[in-house]
Amino acid sequence: MEPRDLLRRRRDRPLLTRPGRWGRGPPAGFRVAIARTPDKTADLTGRGVEVRRGDYDDAASLDTALKGVDLLLLVSGSDLTPGVRVVQHRTVLERAVRAGVRHVVYTSGIGAENGQGFSADHAATEEMIGESGLTYTLLRNTFYSEAFVATALAQAKETGEIVSSTEGRPLNTARLRDLALAAGAVLSGSGHDNAIYELRGPLWTYPELAEALARVLRRPVTCREVTDAEAGWLGSLFPMVRAGAFAQTGPDLSRLLGRPATGLEDTITAFAERAGG
Ligand SMILES: NC(=O)c1ccc[n+]([C@@H]2O[C@H](COP(=O)([O-])OP(=O)(O)OC[C@H]3O[C@@H](n4cnc5c(N)ncnc54)[C@H](OP(=O)(O)O)[C@@H]3O)[C@@H](O)[C@H]2O)c1
Repeated sequence: MEPRDLLRRRRDRPLLTRPGRWGRGPPAGFRVAIARTPDKTADLTGRGVEVRRGDYDDAASLDTALKGVDLLLLVSGSDLTPGVRVVQHRTVLERAVRAGVRHVVYTSGIGAENGQGFSADHAATEEMIGESGLTYTLLRNTFYSEAFVATALAQAKETGEIVSSTEGRPLNTARLRDLALAAGAVLSGSGHDNAIYELRGPLWTYPELAEALARVLRRPVTCREVTDAEAGWLGSLFPMVRAGAFAQTGPDLSRLLGRPATGLEDTITAFAERAGG
């Protein structure tokens, strides 16, 4: 069965999500989308989805928005100011329990089991979910391939060279669309109660990324090691890569997708086509 068909199977489940991450649209059959700025949900118009206003910082808005919701997809908040997300998620969970939500699916992060650094908010949220009494599914998303590919593609086009401070260590990443489809499969399927999924894509290295870019762009692309500071904004992630934090893949993502997770070369091709070659 294709993932898209999986997404179509159930027709009776409300959904809390935010706009813009479902590729061609949200899974068919989902009835409610909650957005802080409903004006930005034009892509949902005409798809049978009721858009309600809800703000993680405004508990009263959630009381209204969550009415009748049975299954909740809680997308982790985007304000990374220390402490903010945990409070926001607590508010959503408290209001969800009060509104009679039965099950929460949470977009957690890779490494949440350790609760260090960037994954501390996810660890705290997972703990709150466990204590909430709701049944749950935890989607521990790896990093998006798009961030690495977009940066490297721009470098390769400009200079024929990509840079990293990964020392050739492997990392697993996944396409954002694959992660969204995996979430859709969980929301549409059954048997996911109290499951934790480690959503990891295929492993790759920066030298392999340079080779893949060369094939897609049909021009030589080399890879050079630099310091973290010279590696740009991704340099803050590379110490974790060197420490092996992303060096394991796993079967959960491809199992939920019903096909292998998208590989690096296909991601590059999609990007290069969008960017005009
Ligand atoms: N795994 C990875 O590699 C990766 C990469 C990027 C992000 N993430 C995570 O994914 C999550 C979403 O990030 P993103 O990049 O998709 O963010 P984004 O593109 O900035 O979108 C954020 C969305 O959240 C909405 N929002 C923000 N604060 C809200 C609130 N208080 N209540 C309700 N809605 C609110 C925004 O609404 P408005 O339209 O009103 O602003 C917007 O629609 C974050 O937890 C982020 O850490 C993971």
